[in-house]
Amino acid sequence: MKKIAIFASGAGSNAQNIAEYFRNNERVKIECVLSNKTDAYVLERAKNLEIDTLTFSRDDFYNGKNVLHFLQLRGVDFIVLAGFLWLIPGYMLDAYNGRIINIHPALLPKYGGKGMYGMKVHQAVVAAHEIETGITIHHVNAKYDEGDIIFQAKCPVLDGDTPEMVAQKVHRLEYEYYPGVIEKMLEKL
Ligand code: GAR
Repeated sequence: MKKIAIFASGAGSNAQNIAEYFRNNERVKIECVLSNKTDAYVLERAKNLEIDTLTFSRDDFYNGKNVLHFLQLRGVDFIVLAGFLWLIPGYMLDAYNGRIINIHPALLPKYGGKGMYGMKVHQAVVAAHEIETGITIHHVNAKYDEGDIIFQAKCPVLDGDTPEMVAQKVHRLEYEYYPGVIEKMLEKL
C-alpha cells in the first residue's frame, strides 16, 4: 500500500478529483490532506471524503519539523501538491527526495515562478495573446516551478477566451491527467 499526502492551499478541486480516482484502489491511499490555510475549502472537501487533515503555520513549516514528523508517523510515501503555494523547505525535499510533485496551470517554463498561480497565470496567458496553454506536472525542488518536467498537456486559447474560460479548460486537463501521472509515479517507487 502506497500512501499519499496532498498539500493544498485553496479550493481543492484537484485534491478531491485525486481522492475520488484512488477511492477504491487497494494499492493507493490518500492518507491525509495538509494545508497552510485554516479556512481553505480543501479541508471541507477532505472532511466529506473522510480524509484526515493537518494545518500548519509558516513557523511550523520553515522553523520546525512537526509537519515532516506527522508525514513520517503516518507512513506517507509520496507528496502531491495541488494548488499549494509555499516553497517546500530543504529538510522535506531531502526526506522525500524525488517523491514530491506539483501541477502548474501553464506550459512551463512559461508563466511560472513566484506569484504565478491560479487565475494570475490565466490572466497573463490571455494578455499575451497566447494561442495555447496547458498543464505541467513536475518534480519539486527548492525553486518555484523549476523542477524537472514529468508531463505536459495542451489546450487551445481562442480569440475572445476570458481568463475564466481558460481556467476551465486547464482544470479539465488537470482532472484528466494528474491522477494517472501520480499512479504511474507510484508504480516506480
Ligand atoms: C490549479 O489550477 C493548480 O494548477 C494551480 O492552482 C489551482 C488549484 O485549484 N496551482 C498553481 O498555480 C501552483 N503554482 P484547486 O484548488 O481547485 O485544485
